[in-house]
Amino acid sequence: MNKFIYLDSAATMQKSDAVIDAQTHFLREKYANSGRGVCMRVAAVDDMVRDTRRSIAEFINADYRDVIFTSGTTDSFNRIVNILKLKPYTVVAVSDLDHHSARLPFQMAGAKITVCPLDDNMNIDIDNVPYADVFVVTAMSNVLGMPQDVAAIVRAAREKNPDVIVVVDAAQYVVHEKIDVKKWDCDFLAFSGHKIGADTGVGVMYIKNADGYPADKFGGGMVERRIYENDFLFMRAPEKFEAGTLPLTQICGFGRAVREIQSARPDLNLIKYLYDELLKINRVKILTRRDASMLSFIIDGMHVLDFGAIAGAHNICVRVGNMCASWIHQHLNIDGSIRVSVGPYNTKDDIDSFISVVRGCVK
Ligand code: ALA
Repeated sequence: MNKFIYLDSAATMQKSDAVIDAQTHFLREKYANSGRGVCMRVAAVDDMVRDTRRSIAEFINADYRDVIFTSGTTDSFNRIVNILKLKPYTVVAVSDLDHHSARLPFQMAGAKITVCPLDDNMNIDIDNVPYADVFVVTAMSNVLGMPQDVAAIVRAAREKNPDVIVVVDAAQYVVHEKIDVKKWDCDFLAFSGHKIGADTGVGVMYIKNADGYPADKFGGGMVERRIYENDFLFMRAPEKFEAGTLPLTQICGFGRAVREIQSARPDLNLIKYLYDELLKINRVKILTRRDASMLSFIIDGMHVLDFGAIAGAHNICVRVGNMCASWIHQHLNIDGSIRVSVGPYNTKDDIDSFISVVRGCVK
C-alpha cells in the first residue's frame, strides 16, 4: 500500500501532536465541568476556557465578551438566523461564493434572497452590491480560495443601507489570513475549530456588542438568578449564549490550535507548484488562480468522482464533488470539481505523487 497522502485540509485539518496531547492530558488529568463548582479542579477548567476565549479574541481582534463558542460554522450560522429573528420580508444578500451552510439557514428561514454579482475575477463585485438588510459575505470560497476584500464589501453594503447587518463566513479564510473584525466592521462572523487544527465540535460565533442581542438558547449556565416565579435574569455575554455544557475537551485543543496556526500556516508555494505542473497536462482545466489558497480543477472527459476513486486507490485523499458549494459550480457550468488543499504538514513529495496520478489518468 502506498503511503497515505492527505491533500484535503480545506475539509478538515489533521491534528498536531500538541493538540492531541493537550486534549488527552485534559481528559486524563484535568477533566471537570466549567462554571459549576468552587474546587480547584473546576477553577482550572474555568481558566482554560477563559484563556482559549482570550486567545481567540486576540486572534480575530474581537472584544473578549463577543466571542461565543458554538459547535462550528454551520451551528453559528443557524443560530445567527435565530438571533436576528428573520422576517419573510428581510432582504438577505448572498453570493455564488457561498457554502451551503452560509446561505441555506437564511433561505430556509424564508428570507428574501438577493444575489450579489461576482466580477470578472470571480470576486464579490464591490461596485454592484445590492441593497440588503443582512449581507452574507463569504470571506474565502472553499472552491476558489481567494480572499475577499471584506472591509471594502462592508463599506459598500453600508453605503446602500447604513443599518445593514453583515455576517461573515470565515471558515476557509481563517486558515490562511489574519482576521480583524474591528477593521472589517462586521456584525457577525463564524468559523470552525477543526479547519485550523482543533477538534471537530467546536467553533466560534463572533457578535459585535453581543450583549445587545437576545439569547437564542436556554438552559444551564446562562442564568444569573431567578427573580420571581418565571422571571429570570440572564448572564451577560458570552455565557448568555452558551446554555448547556461546553465542548471542554475540544476547547482545550482549540486554544493550542489557535496558537499553532499563527506560526505555521499551510505553505501555499505547494499550490503554486501544483498549478504550474498541472498547466502542462492536457485535458486538465484549472478553475482557480495561481495565488489561490487551494487548487480546484476538472479533467476533460473524466467524472470527478471517478478521479476521486482513482486517487483514493493510490491512498491519496482529495475532495471531489460540489463541495457543498453548488452555486459556484452552477456559475461555472459544471457539476463538481477536484480540490487539492494543503496543511502545514504537506511536502513537495506529496504533490509530486498527486501529479503522477493525474498524469496516469490522462494517458
Ligand atoms: N466545508 C468543507 C469543505 O470545503 C467540508 O470541504
